[in-house]
Amino acid sequence: MDIQKTSSTRRGVIQSYRDRLPEIPEWAVASLGEGDTPLIEAPRLSEEVGARLFLKFEGLNPTASFKDRGMTVALSRAVAAGARACICASTGNTAAAAAAYAARAGISCFVVVPVGKIALGKAVQVLAHGARIVQIEGNFDAALKLSQEATAEMEGVALVNSVNPDRIEGQKTAAFEVCEVLGRPPDALALPVGNAGNITAYWKGFTEWRDAGLASDAPRMLGFQAEGAAPLVDGRDVAEPETVASAIRIGAPASKEGALNAVRESGGLIESVSDEEILDAQRMLATLEGVFCEPASAAGIAGLLKLAREGRSPGGTVVSVLTGHGLKDPDVILKRTALPEPVPAVMSSLAGLMEEARGRP
Ligand code: F0G
Repeated sequence: MDIQKTSSTRRGVIQSYRDRLPEIPEWAVASLGEGDTPLIEAPRLSEEVGARLFLKFEGLNPTASFKDRGMTVALSRAVAAGARACICASTGNTAAAAAAYAARAGISCFVVVPVGKIALGKAVQVLAHGARIVQIEGNFDAALKLSQEATAEMEGVALVNSVNPDRIEGQKTAAFEVCEVLGRPPDALALPVGNAGNITAYWKGFTEWRDAGLASDAPRMLGFQAEGAAPLVDGRDVAEPETVASAIRIGAPASKEGALNAVRESGGLIESVSDEEILDAQRMLATLEGVFCEPASAAGIAGLLKLAREGRSPGGTVVSVLTGHGLKDPDVILKRTALPEPVPAVMSSLAGLMEEARGRP
């Protein structure tokens, strides 16, 4: 059965970039039309960060995060290799994507997550897709170790974390899209760093694009971690990582070498931003540009704002990757604002409230 055709102008990353990806037989392709996400110019934030800023809104993928790009490749390859199940550790988004793509591929899915640390929307996605959710009394790093042990011991179970190279291959396609839309690579790319797979993948994409002769250079890679979970900034693993940006609450990044290499080779940097800076950036994106991303996704913008404040703006054309949709984590918003009390359904009440709100943004 040729199960995975999608009828859309969004052909999915395997169809779009087949010649730049590992071999995948047509019968095994599991796609939901991921990728081809918009690159949105951000004029108001451009002024704030001192560069021409574009937002790569990865929240518009099928499961609302960038993970879908890697998951289509990983699940398709797993099916081609005869896997019956997949497993992953996750702070939430990998789990949601694995659950959806496993359903699409027709195999079962197990996700191992830190108890109580997954944003509501992501947990709901996993449940909706019928994946088995295993909550452990431990953090992401323990969950990853456990998942790796499970795949080493069990036959026919594919590990679909970004230590699986197929994930990186799929995720690198976002760099190709950025180059295609801009007509050249940006001067810098800013993004959040957790397990460090994505920064590794973007750098792979940009260098492949350059080495294929399609561009003469590659952007500076600007990675940002949350202050309470910044092992790559501190230079050592963090035993108990803590941040409001639950997606990047990781103390021992698996792709550490890939991230450090990307920064070194590109002349970039990895720095940290506080939870307050992350939430401010999330709010600014939503209120100044109309783009709602989850907290972790705003770390790139928080970092660019910080660099600008310190007179270190990269300048030129900068792309910031907004890795996941804001609806993934409704609790963060409800903690800082709430729905108002109801009022009588009469014009005077409405007019009073509108008068009160006048002049506010
Ligand atoms: N942004 C979001 C929204 C994420 O979910 C993640 C990682 C990152 C950024 C960081 O990317 O790990 O490649 O450096 N989420 C993983 C997960 C760990 O389990 O969903 P990274």
